[in-house]
Amino acid sequence: MIIDGKRLANNIMQDLKTQIEKEKAKPGLAFILIGEDPASETYVRMKKKACENHGFVSHIIKLTEKVSENDLLAKIEEVNKDSSIHGLLVQQPIPKHISTTKVMHAVAPSKDVDGFHPMNMGKLLLGEDDGFFPCTPFGITKLFDHEKIETASKHVVIIGRSNIVGKPLAALLMQKKSYGNATVTVVHRGTKNIKSICKTADILVAAIGKPHFVTKDFVKDGAVVIDVGINRVKSDGKVKVVGDVDFSSVEASVSKITPVPGGVGPMTIAMLLYNTYKSFKCS
Ligand code: GUN
Repeated sequence: MIIDGKRLANNIMQDLKTQIEKEKAKPGLAFILIGEDPASETYVRMKKKACENHGFVSHIIKLTEKVSENDLLAKIEEVNKDSSIHGLLVQQPIPKHISTTKVMHAVAPSKDVDGFHPMNMGKLLLGEDDGFFPCTPFGITKLFDHEKIETASKHVVIIGRSNIVGKPLAALLMQKKSYGNATVTVVHRGTKNIKSICKTADILVAAIGKPHFVTKDFVKDGAVVIDVGINRVKSDGKVKVVGDVDFSSVEASVSKITPVPGGVGPMTIAMLLYNTYKSFKCS
C-alpha cells in the first residue's frame, strides 16, 4: 500500500551507475545555489551526494544572495559553454531581484536537465519526447509505471499549478502516451470547492507546499494519493519534514500512497540523474 519511492529511485540510479561504468568519460552536472536558504542547501547537497554515489561528476557553484542578475546570467553562459558539463540546474527559489523567467531562458536547452526552459516545456506539451521532462512529474510517471497504477481513463486531480510540478504533470498525464491518457483537473487557490473536486479523484496529487493540507475528507475510498510536499516544520524544537497530506488521516481510505520522506522526493533526484545521463549521451 505504501509506495517505496526510495527503492525505485535507487534501482534507477544503480542502473545509471552500471551504464556509466562502461563509458570513457563521466557525465557532469553543475548546480548553481544562490544565497543560504537551508532547504535549498539541503536539496543541493542531497543531489550532489547522489551524483557522487552513482558515477557522475558534480560541481556546486555558490553565489551570494546579493548576486546581480547580470553576474548570474554570465555564470550560466560560462557553464553552457563548458563541454565537460552536461546538465545545469539553478536551484529555486531564486532571489526576488532576479527574473526567474530570464534565468530559465538562459540555461542552454540541451543542458536543461530540470526541464524548465520554454523549449523543453513546449516539447513536453506537444508530446515530443526528445527534450527533458521536469524531474518531479517525470518521477511520478515512473512510479505509476512501476506500481502498475493505470492512468488511462482515470481522473487525476492535481492540487497546485506550479511550473515545477502542477503544470508539467498535468501536461504529461493528458498526453496520448503510455504514461498519459488521463482526465486531468488542476485545482488551485482560485478554485471553488477544492475538497469536493478532490473527492472525485481516482488519483490525487498534492503539490501545494502546505503541511497536512489533504485530510480524509479530500479522498475517495480506494484512491491513489501522491504527496509531493516537502514541508519543514518545527515540532518539539526540532525541524521535521512533513508532506502536504495528513498521512495518518487518509491511509485507511487509500489503495496506495507515497510517504514523505521516501516517496516522490528520491524519484526527483533519480530523474535528475537520468536526464543528465541522457544529456551526456546526446552530447
Ligand atoms: N526547487 C524545488 N524543486 C526544484 C527542482 O526540481 N529544481 C530546481 N532547480 N529547483 C527546485
